[in-house]
Amino acid sequence: MRLHNKVAIITGGASGIGETSAQLFASEGAKVIIADIDQEKIDRLVQSIQSKGYQAHGMKCDVSNEFDVKQLMTTAVNSFTKIDILFNNAGTILPKKLQEITSDEWDNLFEINVKSMYLTIKYATDCLRNCKGSIINMASMTGVVGQQNNAAYSATKGAVIALTKAMAIDFAPYEVRVNSLSPAGVRTPLFENWLQKQENTEQAREAQDRSHLLGRTASSLEIANVALFLASDDSSFVTGENIVVDGGATIGYAAGPKPEWDHVQLKKISKSEV
Ligand SMILES: NC(=O)c1ccc[n+]([C@@H]2O[C@H](COP(=O)([O-])OP(=O)(O)OC[C@H]3O[C@@H](n4cnc5c(N)ncnc54)[C@H](O)[C@@H]3O)[C@@H](O)[C@H]2O)c1
Repeated sequence: MRLHNKVAIITGGASGIGETSAQLFASEGAKVIIADIDQEKIDRLVQSIQSKGYQAHGMKCDVSNEFDVKQLMTTAVNSFTKIDILFNNAGTILPKKLQEITSDEWDNLFEINVKSMYLTIKYATDCLRNCKGSIINMASMTGVVGQQNNAAYSATKGAVIALTKAMAIDFAPYEVRVNSLSPAGVRTPLFENWLQKQENTEQAREAQDRSHLLGRTASSLEIANVALFLASDDSSFVTGENIVVDGGATIGYAAGPKPEWDHVQLKKISKSEV
């Protein structure tokens, strides 16, 4: 068990990558605290994890709200005495042209995707230092390379990567490791909702598949596995790193065509999990 007796907070832990990470971390021995705005999903997931004999605790928390975050950390410490792992996973998207984004939408996106991490880290600092913990911040491929009509989201994820590197320096004397994770397309409810809003959903799905060198998007487990690596002692010498988990989407091509894939087979993979 790679997280035996560790206490892990996962924000946005009730759906998608967060949900799969909560299940995976719990199965590896962690006491998991699922922090999310969706109470119904939290309850369902906590019950599902507990029914397998693992430990989970749910907490309704809007990570952009200072009061909620303070409360989350206080409850975590009162219930479990420590915080070993903070997985700042909660996030949302704003796929619009910059000129169409209102000032409120811009602020709201930054509050959920970036300010939330300032808040969770601030209020968990003492605990994380005491435990020599691990912080994992969810960034995105779009924080590394540009993407059409996604400037605001890309800016938040670029900020997450910069925040991670700076925090890694500040926390190093306390042996707290801070890393970020940058996936490309991951088959989660967030991704599926975005696909459904495209003019032609199936064409958009296929274009997404093709944009990855491996010819397909990721399952949430393929991302959760890397989060587990960063959470565990397996990554004890990794800090200040942004791990890009993108099936080769950002590698670029110096020469030659992209590989051809069997798209009948790939379509089955792409639709299977959401
Ligand atoms: N799915 C992808 O293709 C993809 C790619 C790169 C990065 N990401 C990032 O991964 C993270 C998880 O995304 P996902 O695809 O699993 O999405 P998801 O929508 O399936 O899950 C996100 C969860 O975050 C919760 N959440 C949203 N706002 C919150 C808030 N203010 N406070 C607390 N919880 C909140 C939602 O209720 C939901 O349960 C996000 O940060 C996202 O930007 C996703």
